Amino acid sequence: MKIVNSIKDLKAYLAEVKRDNKKIGFVPTMGALHNGHLSLVQHCVKDNDVCVVSVFVNPTQFNDKHDLETYPRTLEADCALLESAGCDYVFAPSVEEMYPEPDTRIFDLGTVAEVMEGAKRPGHFNGVAQVVSKLFYIVEPDNAYFGEKDFQQIAVIRAMVRQLNIPVTINACPIVREDDGLALSSRNTRLTPEQRQKAPLIARTLKESTTFVPEKSVQEVIDYVVNTINNDPVMEVEYYEIVDGNTLESIKNWTDTDYPVGCITVYCGEVRLIDNIKY
Ligand code: PAF
Repeated sequence: MKIVNSIKDLKAYLAEVKRDNKKIGFVPTMGALHNGHLSLVQHCVKDNDVCVVSVFVNPTQFNDKHDLETYPRTLEADCALLESAGCDYVFAPSVEEMYPEPDTRIFDLGTVAEVMEGAKRPGHFNGVAQVVSKLFYIVEPDNAYFGEKDFQQIAVIRAMVRQLNIPVTINACPIVREDDGLALSSRNTRLTPEQRQKAPLIARTLKESTTFVPEKSVQEVIDYVVNTINNDPVMEVEYYEIVDGNTLESIKNWTDTDYPVGCITVYCGEVRLIDNIKY
């Protein structure tokens, strides 16, 4: 496995791979890797001839400076995990390498980027679109892999790829969960032992709520989820929306879509956790 810091070097390595007509798979990450990321790498290794993983904490997608400063940076441990998962190239550029000058591009990706996380974290998806488009131009992958925990992010990236005509297939991979149901996230390490013990309530409640469909209305299911989670003094739901999984528009009735997905954000103490479920 090669660890590459410069765009020029990575492009030179990948030019050879392309000359040999080999298929390139790509997993963009911000590091602090866990089994969720490793499952993306496993999919990538399986489907492609060469697997590239980027490890880059992208400053333009953080709308909270403190969040950016405290984001875990564990490159050495990440590389050890990636090597054992079969990754061929780790691309770990500096901020200066990725942004030699400020990226002033403003994306207009429509509803998928405006609702839920888009409304709560202004500028976040614009930063994601900036960095992922740059990474796609650098790596030119045939396939890219994203985790469904960030359900909305996948919709935003698909919209961006369509808008920019980037020839890459976006592959969505299922959420990886702890045994108690908690969706794996780099942020889980920030939970106190008490919060960690409480956090599986989110996944448990979402799963339970699927058993009420279609007897209970969409609004009743939303109320059930929000009230059950808010009943715990450590937890506070920021939003819970049930949307059409393609357009991300809120639905009012179960018959409004054949792909209803519930998307939730919960503060567990200071830690912002997200999860989702298909109904
Ligand atoms: O999901 C993430 O970790 C990031 O948003 C991504 C896609 C690597 C872009 O920085």
